[in-house]
Amino acid sequence: MVPFPSLFALLPLASLSALVSAYDWIPDPAVPGSADGGWQELPQLPGADLITDFPIPGTSAVFPLYQSSGLDTAEVTRAIIVPGAEARDSWSYWITMQNIKMDLASTDSTFNPNTTSIMSPCFLSQNDITAGAGNANQLNWKGGDWFSGDFANGPTNGDNISSFDVLDALVNYYTNASMYPNIQAVVLAGHSAAGQIFQRYAAMRIPTINDDRVNYIVANPGSYLWLVTDRPHQNASCASVNVYDKYKYGLTGGIVGYSTGDFKNLGRDGVVSRYRGRNVHYALGTADNGPGDTGCEASTQGATHLERGDNFISMLNNSNGGMPSSHTVDMIEGVSHQQDQMFNSSQLRERLFKEVTATGSLQNSTTATAAPTGQRSSGSNDAPTAYSASVTLGIAGVAFLSILSGVALL
Ligand SMILES: *[C@@H]1O[C@H](CO)[C@@H](O)[C@H](O)[C@H]1NC(C)=O
Ligand SMILES: *[C@@H]1O[C@H](CO)[C@@H](O)[C@H](O)[C@H]1NC(C)=O
Ligand SMILES: *[C@@H]1O[C@H](CO)[C@@H](O)[C@H](O)[C@H]1NC(C)=O
Ligand SMILES: *[C@@H]1O[C@H](CO)[C@@H](O)[C@H](O)[C@H]1NC(C)=O
Ligand SMILES: *[C@@H]1O[C@H](CO)[C@@H](O)[C@H](O)[C@H]1NC(C)=O
Ligand SMILES: *[C@@H]1O[C@H](CO)[C@@H](O)[C@H](O)[C@H]1NC(C)=O
Ligand SMILES: *[C@@H]1O[C@H](CO)[C@@H](O)[C@H](O)[C@H]1NC(C)=O
Repeated sequence: MVPFPSLFALLPLASLSALVSAYDWIPDPAVPGSADGGWQELPQLPGADLITDFPIPGTSAVFPLYQSSGLDTAEVTRAIIVPGAEARDSWSYWITMQNIKMDLASTDSTFNPNTTSIMSPCFLSQNDITAGAGNANQLNWKGGDWFSGDFANGPTNGDNISSFDVLDALVNYYTNASMYPNIQAVVLAGHSAAGQIFQRYAAMRIPTINDDRVNYIVANPGSYLWLVTDRPHQNASCASVNVYDKYKYGLTGGIVGYSTGDFKNLGRDGVVSRYRGRNVHYALGTADNGPGDTGCEASTQGATHLERGDNFISMLNNSNGGMPSSHTVDMIEGVSHQQDQMFNSSQLRERLFKEVTATGSLQNSTTATAAPTGQRSSGSNDAPTAYSASVTLGIAGVAFLSILSGVALL
């Protein structure tokens, strides 16, 4: 005998069709703790492995992440790497991407979901370690340092492990031919704070042989690494180019530790030219009228997420060589600061799950996977100042606020 009446039996027939779907929609779990005080756990997710000890070259510390479970690595042709945003809610982003993937598979018979691995890296804070989401062997960052590419704060400060080093390790993992022989695209998908890290990584990433298949989706970031010293707006609080154009907002000084040696060799022109050659996909919600970063540096780029994006595109359009041919711009009509609606737009679904920018097969690397530490020996690693003024919110608050106004998020 069935101990409980079936849920379906209790529902009027009319609402039944709404519940029947071709795939299992994963709801966002309630996670104890908060973005402010620290998360108390990283929840287990259906369809994902929570890997708590991914190795990072150059340190004995390890890194936690979610990854699609049960895929045959030889069948995988795409990897999507999607971090959480400022609230470090990586689980929520893995779920969003998984729901979109399964929706696509249920509506498009040419798409086989087993070909796409979704990974959500967990850039934890010190508070997450203390509150219980992380453990003492895991890398963790101060505040928003991870989205500038800054060095981890722990567990071993002197290791000088940048969040860019972590991204290098993840890209190298998926482009390793002995593990993923058929990978065609690695898509780094970032909304808000994660849009910030990927736009900067597109400029700073030290190249590897399979660079051409790495794609960077930059959706609604709170600020950009600007490529020139001019700005569309002025702000008396940061009148000096040494302030408004300092890394992470520009390339006049304060260069992140990961890049100091590299920047010395390449200079601004070299970094800009490398950035122009990468596959960068900007996506702007046309209703994203929130200010996000309220610091003076960001205000010189524009007043809102949307304005900053528009101004950045204009700057590229007006630059020597114009809009780079490997960069794309998608305007997502009517969407505000909402990751699910951005990633689920027809434009980003195509870029996430279909688009291929590299031809030919993967090359095999024989060299070390991480940037040599010698490259940043004279590094400065200035903590960003604008971040500290921003409000951090619990996940419920994030969802609530972003629906209400689309403001206050980076
Ligand atoms: C994406 O859009 C489809 C409709 O095109 C909808 O059924 C689905 O629930 C959406 N997924 C997410 C994660 O918003
Ligand atoms: C994907 O993999 C699952 C589990 O192995 C399998 O049941 C399913 O048929 C596969 N789907 C396709 C389209 O190959
Ligand atoms: C790379 O290595 C894999 C596995 O070791 C091998 O099958 C493949 O042929 C190699 N590819 C190239 C381009 O050398
Ligand atoms: C200038 O920057 C300050 C922060 O230093 C900010 O409060 C102010 O709104 C900015 N002014 C404008 C016009 O954006
Ligand atoms: C940039 O140039 C493209 C054409 O190359 C044009 O479609 C677009 O509107 C321009 N955008 C801005 C913000 O100037
Ligand atoms: C590729 O993966 C294999 C198997 O895990 C590993 O032994 C090798 O060191 C990796 N290669 C690189 C370049 O990281
Ligand atoms: C780590 O970076 C600091 C500057 O941020 C530098 O002084 C130190 O020499 C670096 N350590 C190593 C081992 O590279």
